[in-house]
Amino acid sequence: MDSIKSLFAPVRTVLEKLGILSPQNLWNDILQQHWRVNAVLLIIITALFGWIIMLTLARYIDLAPVKPSDLLDGVVSKPGSPPIPPPTEIVSLRVYPIKSCRGVELQSTRMRRTGLTLDRNWMFVTTSDYKFMTIRGDSSMTLIDTALVEGDDPKDPSNQQLEISIHGGSPDDRIRIPAFPTQEWLKANTTLRPVEIWEQETDGYVYAEKFNTVFSDFFRKEVALVYKGPTKRLNRINGQKDMYGEDIATNFPDVVSLQIANEASITDLNRRLREKHGEELGAALTIERFRPNIIIRGREDHPWEEDTWKRIRITTTLPSENAIYKIELDSIARCARCQVPNVNPDTAEKHAKEPWDELMKFRRVDSGGPAKFKPCFGMLCIPRREGKIAVGAKLEVLETTANHLYSVRKFADL
Ligand SMILES: *[C@@H]1O[C@H](CO)[C@@H](O)[C@H](O)[C@H]1NC(C)=O
Repeated sequence: MDSIKSLFAPVRTVLEKLGILSPQNLWNDILQQHWRVNAVLLIIITALFGWIIMLTLARYIDLAPVKPSDLLDGVVSKPGSPPIPPPTEIVSLRVYPIKSCRGVELQSTRMRRTGLTLDRNWMFVTTSDYKFMTIRGDSSMTLIDTALVEGDDPKDPSNQQLEISIHGGSPDDRIRIPAFPTQEWLKANTTLRPVEIWEQETDGYVYAEKFNTVFSDFFRKEVALVYKGPTKRLNRINGQKDMYGEDIATNFPDVVSLQIANEASITDLNRRLREKHGEELGAALTIERFRPNIIIRGREDHPWEEDTWKRIRITTTLPSENAIYKIELDSIARCARCQVPNVNPDTAEKHAKEPWDELMKFRRVDSGGPAKFKPCFGMLCIPRREGKIAVGAKLEVLETTANHLYSVRKFADL
């Protein structure tokens, strides 16, 4: 008994010092004589200290319990997963109506499960073999400009036109075609036939020669414009059914319909390039080199945090329509890069080294399949729903993962 009492001697000393315990006090008797009260007090004090230490530690090692006010509707935060970044906003929307050609910046548009409206609906093929053309094979493709213009009949909303021209070319070097061609128009002006893209056959409406002469002259070979035909072409690699769990149609992108990039990440890349080369490289790289569809602001002090996205949500509020569109998207893979970003889109000149060399130094972040030997930039995403989307929309990350593996890991296993 005495040995137990002596164990609590320090507690008594502290309480005495604090004036809670005085020799005359009733507490003193209790504490002197009732070792159980002593034990309970010791346990309470130890627990309090432990709790404070745990909370402090948790703050530093990112295990801090999320405050209810931090919790977004639908967020899944699994223990061990990378932290959920705060919401950010969409700063730019881009579509590239013709594969590998210059794109169009939009204030608002419509998200479909097949990607943003008017994205990669067309491509060029060489008419000797009806195979697709890309910047990889011919960097001068970036000198083909596209624009959306109103047709001659302002009363006809379906009359929107896609204007295709040659950068710096004469006003004669341009054609206009319906942005949303009717079956009747296609029947009269195109031929439906098999075309080849990435060693796969699909069908396409091949435009008649009168639409192509400007471009055949420019490329110095016979080419034709092709509009995606009615047969479904499907998302590839991480987007195909055995990997994603669902077959979703797309037009003419390389892998998957939608790519999202982070402005903070290109800012970081430009900072690294400037540190390495000074002014030698000229102006900062524009995001257009990476051909994303959606660009988010992100956080300057957290570039590349998009690497860990698994599920995200875009909320577009349109007060003029009394409408809110919430679109959830699955972020299925990082986008493994080829050397296309080395091409300056304004001049079609390909730089011998950058940004490829710099990206290879710090962006070989995914060891899945071919991505092992490639740098990554941007995330490939598949929308779960359709709806309107506009610049200024909110982007929230709903779930993160440290397990992305290009062409290897299924979405269900992330
Ligand atoms: C075929 O294209 C031409 C040129 O754009 C257009 O004037 C014509 O109406 C088209 N044919 C049909 C049947 O739509």
